Amino acid sequence: MNIPEFVGIDTELPLANGKTHRRVHLDAAASPLGLKSSQDCIAELLPFYANTHSKAHLSARITTEAYTWAQGSILESLGFEKTLYDLAFAGSGSTAAFNRIARGLTKLRPERPVTFISGMEHHSNDLPHRLNSQKTVFIPVIEPPNENNGALDLDQLESLLEEHKERVNYIAINSLSNVTGIKTPVDEICRLVHKYDVYVLVDAAQSTSCLGPEISVNEDETPDFWVFSGHKVYTPSSPGVLIAKKTILSALPLFDIGGGSVKQVSTESFELLDSPYKEQAGTPNIVGVIALANTLKVLSDMGFKSIAQHSQEIAEYAMKRLATVPEISVYGDLALPRAAAISFNIADIDHGLVAAILSDYYAIAVRNACFCAHPYVRSLLKSELWDLDLDDIPKDQLENYINRKRGMVRASFALYTTQEDIDYLVKSLECIMINIKDLNDNYKVNSDGDYIHKSFTPSWREFFNP
Ligand SMILES: Cc1ncc(COP(=O)(O)O)c(C=O)c1O
Repeated sequence: MNIPEFVGIDTELPLANGKTHRRVHLDAAASPLGLKSSQDCIAELLPFYANTHSKAHLSARITTEAYTWAQGSILESLGFEKTLYDLAFAGSGSTAAFNRIARGLTKLRPERPVTFISGMEHHSNDLPHRLNSQKTVFIPVIEPPNENNGALDLDQLESLLEEHKERVNYIAINSLSNVTGIKTPVDEICRLVHKYDVYVLVDAAQSTSCLGPEISVNEDETPDFWVFSGHKVYTPSSPGVLIAKKTILSALPLFDIGGGSVKQVSTESFELLDSPYKEQAGTPNIVGVIALANTLKVLSDMGFKSIAQHSQEIAEYAMKRLATVPEISVYGDLALPRAAAISFNIADIDHGLVAAILSDYYAIAVRNACFCAHPYVRSLLKSELWDLDLDDIPKDQLENYINRKRGMVRASFALYTTQEDIDYLVKSLECIMINIKDLNDNYKVNSDGDYIHKSFTPSWREFFNP
């Protein structure tokens, strides 16, 4: 497969030992690098850029029509059937779309006051439902050391459906965990819960760029809502993308209206545009949406099947190589299908220290702590935290000590990740293990619990000075 160009892949970063190294971005789950073609698309658009919702002058027409093209093109690139699905953009990333759906569905079906939330969710696909639903029920995750630990417990889901039956409105699940990279069987869950007329909301923030939509051709297996955002798909901008079954989207009560969402307004009344245009009041993230459509077209032309194969191969290679690091714990049953992300701890070294050393001494970007998925991380770490030996820790340092152990290191991958990047990570972790005593002496812990290098603290203005 020909890998397209990405911006920033060759950036040299300074290291704490006085040398430099090419940036190795293993933090794609937060935001991957931007596609060069997206950067070019933005540069080509800007000379004609104007606001949308108007055809009064040529630039307005170019921008408005490009925006309308983008809306249709995203559905096409992802293979969503246009007779079945519509697309609306939401403000700040996927989070805005989850809030929109939570408010809308709660009001649409008040006779169904229960929402199911998978125990694997990012807070953005959890808290909006807690805030809006009368009652939320968590679907448990299988815990270590059981087989399939880290995956959703589908037997429990079935018995909870039987218990709550027609009181359940919808279930919020992800298609790929941002913590473990474990895949969720979306088709199977749709088939099961649709029997109870329960809607399925899929958080596809992680899976869209690396697996594509993977939508079943059987209608009872297709999700009702599919959400992701631009910045997770190689587009350095964050329109939230809400793809929904037309019939449900058009019935959802509205919460935000204003200019751009209405046909006629008088002081007595107003008439809304049809769905999905009535969903999008205000000036949208014009440039971000057009750049995202361009990115998805590039990915779709490459073929999501090959992209999925590539990302599964990289994840498998990473699992195999990381397993060779002495005293490593990789979270989630190693036999489960995964892509894009792997979380681990090494020996009893704090996750924050490992992440800081990887950045300062190796130019490797990873993330650490709980990745906005505290309940899931807790269920994976519970037994380890239980086993912590706290006898020698002074009482006044106990809380800080436990907080430093509550978390993991996450390496996450993208199209540009190579086997050499993984080998470099593994080699770096092995060096850290050998030199941990000396390395540790170079750090202090600040009041937020972050590890700060004592002498290497480059300022952002050395790199970028607007
Ligand atoms: C699985 C998952 N869901 C939702 C979000 C939130 O997405 P956004 O930042 O686009 O609102 C993230 C971000 O990390 C995520 O990983």
